[in-house]
This record gives sequence, C-alpha cells and structure tokens, in this order.
Amino acid sequence: MTDTPLLDIRGLSKTFGSVEALTDVDFEVRPGEVMALVGDNGAGKSTLIKCVAGIHGYDSGEIVFDGEPVSIHGPKDAARLGIEVVYQDLALCDNLDVVQNMYLGREVHDWLYRLKEPVMEQHTAETLKSLAVTTIRSIRQPVASLSGGQRQSVAVAKAVQWNSRLVILDEPTAALGVAQTRQVLELVKRLAEQGLAVVLISHNLHDIFEVATRITVLRLGRDVGVYEREKTTQQEVVHAITAGIPTKVAGIAEAEAGVAT
Ligand SMILES: Nc1ncnc2c1ncn2[C@@H]1O[C@H](COP(=O)(O)OP(=O)(O)OP(=O)(O)O)[C@@H](O)[C@H]1O
Ligand SMILES: [Mg+2]
Repeated sequence: MTDTPLLDIRGLSKTFGSVEALTDVDFEVRPGEVMALVGDNGAGKSTLIKCVAGIHGYDSGEIVFDGEPVSIHGPKDAARLGIEVVYQDLALCDNLDVVQNMYLGREVHDWLYRLKEPVMEQHTAETLKSLAVTTIRSIRQPVASLSGGQRQSVAVAKAVQWNSRLVILDEPTAALGVAQTRQVLELVKRLAEQGLAVVLISHNLHDIFEVATRITVLRLGRDVGVYEREKTTQQEVVHAITAGIPTKVAGIAEAEAGVAT
C-alpha cells in the first residue's frame, strides 16, 4: 500500500439553498485501503460521495485524482476516471439475470448487433470467480431470486469489472443478515487486496472495525477526524460522531494554545 492518495478532496463545500451540507471538507483514500466514512444521519456522507460521482456539483474546493486536479461534471466523467459507486437500492434490475445485469448498457455484440452471449457469460463467470463469489448457482438466474448478500456481491462485481480504481459503497450491508453481511465484508477486503481504493459508508461500527484501514468522521457537514483502525477504539469514533470538533478548528485552537503538532 502506498501513502499517496488516489482520491484527495480538499476544502470541499456544498450548499443546498440555505443548508450547508458540506463545509471545507478534506477527505482522502489510498489504493489498497478501505476508508470508512461515518457520521450521523444528515452528516453529509452521501452528499460527499455524490460530488465525487458527478451527481452533484459543489460550490468550492478541489478534487485531485491520481495526483491531478479533475473536474467531474457527471457520472460519465467519474466512470472515465475509474470511479464506481454502488448505491444500495438502485444497483440491479430484478427481472434480468446475472449476466444481463453485469452488462446492462455495455452489452457486447457482433457487427449484426447479435449479442455475444458466450463472451459475456464467460467474462461474468471469471469476474465472479476472481472475487471469490462462489455461492451463486447459475449466472442465468434472475437476480430477484438471489439472496441479499448475493445481490450485493453482483452489484459490487458489476461496478468493479471495468478496470475501476476507486469503488464507493454506500451502506452495502444495511439490509443484510449476519452471514450475508460476512460475504459482502469479505468481498470488500478482497477489493482492497487487489489494489483498489475502497470507500465504505456504514452506520455499523462493528463492520467498519472489521474491514477498514482508516475511518473518516463527518459531523454536521465537516470532517472532524481521521482515525487509523489499529490505533483507535469504537468509543473514540462514537465520540467524534456525536461531539467531534472540526479538524481545522481544532488545529487552530491547538496552534493558538502553542501545542506542537
Ligand atoms: N438534494 C438535496 N436537497 C436539499 N438538501 C439536501 C439534499 N441532499 C441532502 N441534503 C441535506 O444535506 C445534508 C446532508 O445529507 P446527506 O444525505 O449527505 O447525509 P448522510 O450523512 O448521507 O445521512 P444518512 O446517514 O442519513 O444517509 C442534510 O441536511 C440533508 O437534508
Ligand atoms: Mg446517506
């Protein structure tokens, strides 16, 4: 793992009318790491992700990707950079099978526009295998017949199959039982092991402490701390979520008090 961030957000601010959804937020994630993004309801997590995904514009700040300042004006800009987001509910079409979902909008066909089913089937099987998604019996079954964990696994596989470099998961385990949550968390770990940068939004600190390398806490639209998983406790993170002071304000207070940083 390198220390250079793949995604480096600097001083991002975003308002919706009079609501300050994000104020001067810094956020980074490195290749090969799982960065958790946590905070109470309305803290700004989804808004921050939507700015990166090109769904929202932002008022000020900078997004640096792979060392270069980038402007992301729509989901296609994000996809071109290798940024993929898995949203909890919008991920899959129930009536289509696994292969059709994997290739939705990106179907492979020959010069007569006949679908190349064997090519898509083989690639789907290989992608699932490379991610060790082994419990799906047939890739020709409609995703409506899959378990919640299997569906989430297909959604993740779909997102990462196009040479993506950063994958963002917004609450991927919120609706899952214990065993299925385990499946998805294992998959999250594997993505990072394969060198992707992973952002994991979750309200479940237990899950986060199992897979995250670092944890960024947002509170009331501001970043209030970045914690290394191995050097922090759930208690410290909960305290930041409920009572954290913005990092930059804390920095100024420390400097004024003459504390060396
Ligand atoms: N499209 C929108 N229009 C107006 N206000 C919005 C919009 N989206 C979000 N907000 C506001 O921005 C703030 C941050 O919301 P956001 O959805 O980012 O929170 P969140 O951290 O994802 O919360 P949750 O954990 O509940 O998903 C909230 O005050 C919310 O009401
Ligand atoms: Mg949200």
